[in-house]
Parts: sequence; C-alpha cells; structure tokens
Amino acid sequence: MPVLRQLRERFARERPLAGRRVSACLHVTTETANLAVTLKGGGADVALCGSNPLSTQDDVAAHLVKDHGIKVFAIKGYEHIRAALAHRPDVTMDDGADLVGALHMIALNRLDDLARPVRKWVETLAVADRKALVGGVLGSTEETTTGVIRLKAMARDGVLQFPVVAVNDSDTKHLFDNRYGTGQSTLDGILRATNLLIAGSTVVVAGYGWCGRGFAMRARGAGANVLVTEIDPLKALEAQMDGYRVATMAEAARVGDVFVTLTGNVDVIRVEHMRAMKDGAVLANSGHFNVEIALEGLKQVAQGPTRVREFVDEWRLDGKRIFVLADGRLINLAAAEGHPASVMDMSFANQALAAEFVVQQAKSLTKDVHRIPRELDAEIARLKLQAMGVTIDRLTPEQQKYLTSWEQGT
Ligand code: NAI
Repeated sequence: MPVLRQLRERFARERPLAGRRVSACLHVTTETANLAVTLKGGGADVALCGSNPLSTQDDVAAHLVKDHGIKVFAIKGYEHIRAALAHRPDVTMDDGADLVGALHMIALNRLDDLARPVRKWVETLAVADRKALVGGVLGSTEETTTGVIRLKAMARDGVLQFPVVAVNDSDTKHLFDNRYGTGQSTLDGILRATNLLIAGSTVVVAGYGWCGRGFAMRARGAGANVLVTEIDPLKALEAQMDGYRVATMAEAARVGDVFVTLTGNVDVIRVEHMRAMKDGAVLANSGHFNVEIALEGLKQVAQGPTRVREFVDEWRLDGKRIFVLADGRLINLAAAEGHPASVMDMSFANQALAAEFVVQQAKSLTKDVHRIPRELDAEIARLKLQAMGVTIDRLTPEQQKYLTSWEQGT
C-alpha cells in the first residue's frame, strides 16, 4: 500500500492526530491494519471494532493488539460497537454509519433503537455522560455508499450533530474500490464459497452502480451471461449499452443460476422471486447490509437451512433447492478477504487524510456531509500512478492557455 505508506511516514513526522482518540468501526482486515497503524503513528489513540460480524480476520485483530498495542474489539462473529463508543472518541471512522448512528440514538435518547449490548451499557451512564459522548466528537469519516446515504438523510433532517467527511465520495475511492475492488472480491467470495464454474452460467446482477458494474464486468470476463436489474433508467440504459441484458427481477428469477445483490437497498430478492427460480439457484449479497435478500420471508416459507458447505445454506422451497451464501452478508468479506491491498491503498489513504482533515477543520465545517478537497483526491491518484510506475503527459503552456481561453480559434 505505497500511497498509505507515504502518508504513514509523513504522519510519523508531523503527528497530526496527536492526543486524539479515534474510534474506527471497519472491516478488520489486513488492509485496515495498515490504516490503524498509520493513525496510531500519527499520534491517535485508536480503538477498532468490526463493522460486520463476519468480516473480521481474527489473526489480524490479534496482530494489531500484540504487535502494535492497538485496542481491537472484534472477533469473527461479533462487532463490539459498544467498546468503540466507550473509547469516547474525538473522531469516529465508520463503514456503514454504525458509530454515528448509535451516537445519535444516544443523543436523542432513543435507546430502544440501539443494539442490546450498547443499550445496556448506555443505561449505566448518567445523562450528562451520554451528552458528553456525542458532544465530544469533532467529526466523523464514512467509508461506504450505504453509510453516506444515511448520513445525508440525517443532515437533511437537521439531526446530524457534527460534520462528516464522506470518503466514499472521493473519486479515488468509489471509482476504484467499489468498482474494481468489489467486482473482483465478490467473484472471489462466490468462487471460494461454492467452487462453481461461472463460464456458461447466467449471473443476475442487481444494481448497476459502482459495485454492480464492477461485478458485472468480472462475471462477464469469467464467461457468464450477465443479466442486470435496475430501478434507475439511466443506469439501466448504461447497462444495456454496455452489452448486458436488462430485465426485471421477476423475469431474471426464471433464468438465473447465480443472483448477486449490490444495491444498498432492502428486499431486492423476495420470496415471489425465489419461488420462480430454478432448482439449485445460488443467492449472494455484496451490498453493505444483509437486507437485500429477504431471508426472513424465506425462513417462513422454506424448509432449512442445511449447511452443505462452509458459507452455503440449502433451503427447500416448493420442492426446489435454493442456496444462500454467507447468511446474505457481504460475500466478499465473509467468504474471501475483501478487496486487495492495492485498491484499499487509495481508500485508506482517503481515510487517513479525512481523519487529519476532520481534526484540522472540524471547527469551520458545517454539520453536514463533506468530501475531502479535490486537490487531495487528485494527489492520491498522482501518488498511486507514481507507485505503479506510470507517467503521464503534462500540459504544454500552449495547451494550458488553449484550455483556459475563449478567444483562441478552433
Ligand atoms: P451505487 O449507488 O453506485 O449503486 C447502487 C445501484 O443500485 C444504483 O444504481 C441503484 O439505482 C440500484 N438499485 C437500488 N435499488 C434497486 C433495486 N431494488 N433493484 C435493482 N437496483 C437497485 O452504490 P455502490 O457504490 O455500487 O454500492 C452498493 C452497495 O454496496 C452499498 O450498500 C455499498 O455500501 C456497498 N459496498 C459494498 C462493498 C463490498 O466490499 N462488498 C464495497 C463498497 C460498497
């Protein structure tokens, strides 16, 4: 992760996070370990918890504690958000807005909306302590599309209590991490879980956003016939002109072999769709939360589950078999290792810069969702190219002039 390494070296010299408590709720993977070490080197007192019960790599968590003295509250199967809140952060770092969401529920005294362990802990705190918890936060950073959507909704409703930097909105994040990272690691997760032959199969991709188009590209590359479902006419048109077949989920259900949701929405694959599927259909999700496949509905009408392989549950519905991968949770993190380091290099360079930006600018930022300055985004791209050994042309003075003038002729 050469871009993050450069930042780590600067952070070690300048210590921009000195004396700050940072609570990060992220997938605890090897790449996240590099980020945590960078933040600590920058002077932060870091507490890390998992942002999804199945995404923690236990050896990484152990390594961070043992060799770097970083407080990690994560073990595969559990998230431990309570511990990250109890760290009383100055800055929170989220992947899915879990910490910010919990902090705001505490501030609004909506304790019933908190996960049970968090609620039980908050109930032991005096009211002043609860207020101090939220009041102490300078700002937050957010890694993913789903988190950004929630935070923008909070800002719109006027409830957001501090500024947030949407790391996902950086071009060097979503154009690469969501597209190429999710594209590859989702296929990797499906293959590791099932060992299916993709060539010649029909893969249904729900959602043609950054993640969906990345995965569609990789599934096609592996020889699948790819079918896309969308609700946005522009995205659907783009998918159609990119050469995929576009259909409704009701149509796709009848022909698909493998179904993958990457929408950030709820109930994208419902029981009515599952009933129409072929025997042996495989269902996976790579969107942030496990709400895209209606598993509760499936539980009510189907028999099962029978675990037939690690990460593969068989359900019997109307005499047919439906296979659900990784309980409908992020397949790329549950069954594989998440995105490769090379792409997380840019995402986490954005995270580190966003944390620095929050500490430096929090007082002047409005209680809204911001992005890091475009110059920093461009600088990450420049450093990444440099690390890849790629050089690009520079504008000549004449070209610079041509591009900024309206008087020069055609
Ligand atoms: P995006 O906003 O670019 O794309 C989502 C697409 O889904 C949109 O085009 C939208 O029109 C479409 N959509 C919404 N409801 C739909 C429905 N009912 N049927 C079909 N399409 C529908 O978002 P992006 O960046 O692609 O992220 C998608 C999800 O993946 C989010 O939950 C995000 O947080 C998550 N994510 C997961 C990663 C992973 O490691 N698996 C990495 C990055 C993001």
